[in-house]
Amino acid sequence: MEELPIGKAFTLIEPGPVVLVTTSDGRTDNVMTISWTMVLDFTAKFAITTGAWNHSYAALTKMKECVIAVPTVDLLDTVIGVGTCSGRDTDKFARFGLSRVTAQHVRAPLIAECLANIECRVAEIIGHHDIVVLQGVAAHVDGSRKEKRLIHAVGDGTFVADGRRFDRREAMRSKLPGGV
Ligand SMILES: Cc1cc2nc3c(=O)[nH]c(=O)nc-3n(C[C@H](O)[C@H](O)[C@H](O)COP(=O)(O)O)c2cc1C
Repeated sequence: MEELPIGKAFTLIEPGPVVLVTTSDGRTDNVMTISWTMVLDFTAKFAITTGAWNHSYAALTKMKECVIAVPTVDLLDTVIGVGTCSGRDTDKFARFGLSRVTAQHVRAPLIAECLANIECRVAEIIGHHDIVVLQGVAAHVDGSRKEKRLIHAVGDGTFVADGRRFDRREAMRSKLPGGV
């Protein structure tokens, strides 16, 4: 995986993909699926919606860090499998054949099979809305990957994959941060 400047990490989440979020409680790693995400600014600040109903939440709030891993459409069934069982009783890395890569800044692992990974620290938890605010600290992409189409959840059990990309960079220039 190559390093992606952290100022570009928001471009991985702005399209609204379903993501995998890895955590570590210091002894055991876990991974869950999250489709409710939001970009909060260009510095790589994100929000995810989750809470204590997920096993991952204890590690997320204890260690205050995680990795947002961005899967592509070839991983759709893995994404669903990861999001329909729990780390309470399952080693999901073994069950779904996901390979862990050591992160630079956090204990939660990167996932080698994903297109990109963003190492994050928990910046704030807005408990009454189940919102966890994350600050990205490093990002990595697998530039060698052929399949780059992200997965988008409709919410009714169906999913769509990325389609055609339209380049409007010049028209958008005044609204884009430098270096993007
Ligand atoms: C497609 C999909 C999207 C999901 N999105 C979310 C989400 O945005 N927030 C959330 O808390 N759980 C979401 N889930 C559910 C969790 O991934 C699920 O409860 C998982 O089993 C939690 O794992 P854990 O108990 O090991 O933490 C989603 C599941 C799927 C399949």
